Amino acid sequence: MPRKRQNNENIDEQYYQISPEILSSFPKYHPPVDLFSFREDIAVLAPYCRKGQRLSNEQVEEVADICTKGNLFVARSDHHIYSRHIVKQLDLVLQDDHLTDAEIAEICIHALLIQMRGFYAQPVKTMFEPLYKDVMVVTEYLWGDKHRINTFIRRLFRKDEMARHAVNTMIVGLRLWMYSTQEYRRKDLDRVTLALLLHDIGMSKVPPFLLKKNGPLKLEEREKILPHPLLGAKMMQKTDVSFDELVHACFQHHERLDGSGYPQHSKDRQITRVGRLTAVADSFSAMICERPWRKPKDMITACKELVGDHLRYDQEMTSALLGVFASGNLGQLVDMDAIVDARDSE
Ligand SMILES: [Fe+2]
Ligand SMILES: [Fe+2]
Repeated sequence: MPRKRQNNENIDEQYYQISPEILSSFPKYHPPVDLFSFREDIAVLAPYCRKGQRLSNEQVEEVADICTKGNLFVARSDHHIYSRHIVKQLDLVLQDDHLTDAEIAEICIHALLIQMRGFYAQPVKTMFEPLYKDVMVVTEYLWGDKHRINTFIRRLFRKDEMARHAVNTMIVGLRLWMYSTQEYRRKDLDRVTLALLLHDIGMSKVPPFLLKKNGPLKLEEREKILPHPLLGAKMMQKTDVSFDELVHACFQHHERLDGSGYPQHSKDRQITRVGRLTAVADSFSAMICERPWRKPKDMITACKELVGDHLRYDQEMTSALLGVFASGNLGQLVDMDAIVDARDSE
């Protein structure tokens, strides 16, 4: 790794220092961002090349050399290009100690969104493998410090899309789970994360026109959606990584404590903890997203409705969720839809 620079905090605020790992992930002859080199002799950061400019073999070598010495930088104003690049190679976020927690959360959320879109469109092994890899990067990051999940929960989506709903459910469920579980292993964190993210994967087998419908579903249309918990559980049982939490999240997320849910009308502790957790996170995520026929609910209203619905939802979990949003400690919410929409349209 390049050595950490001293006494140049203003440079570190406006520029990222690029590690050799990140440099090697760029197209060698056409860096996608402007590069700057730190001139030690005059202590100035000077432009080295412009984005898209073709580098000669000598320059490629020189850039590598500058980078190894810890003197290669990218402007923060190129963050959008840099993050679009890093989103496709998510493991790099763990190596880049110049990204802020907010930047890492946004890159992780966007990467998971892209992976979930791909897996919903084609729920096959070749799409699952890169998704799994990115989930492991996110859990590695959260494993380092559980409070990092709070940066994620300020960045929930409000637009209606299955992949956005999946990512929201993962974030909300993890916030509750990480703070309410006394001790957990890395493996448990991995499993709960995957379970929450993939809870609705059975929806990929539902006729697509139903998902795009502009209004509440009619009874016969609703019936076509009812099998998705079982379909999801069966799909996940077939993968190489199948484990109980994943199957339970898929199968039980529409079960309710009073037996009014589906598909099995299970009650109380017949529903596993991860099943109850996914139910709360799933319902909350649905409530805060806009639908073509209704506006999104604000976070606190959604939490209060769930707390009031104590016959159907685990009250410890719903009260904890209300605590997250009502405590005032969460800080400013971030418009994550605007961030990903801007990046998607570039
Ligand atoms: Fe569902
Ligand atoms: Fe859901």
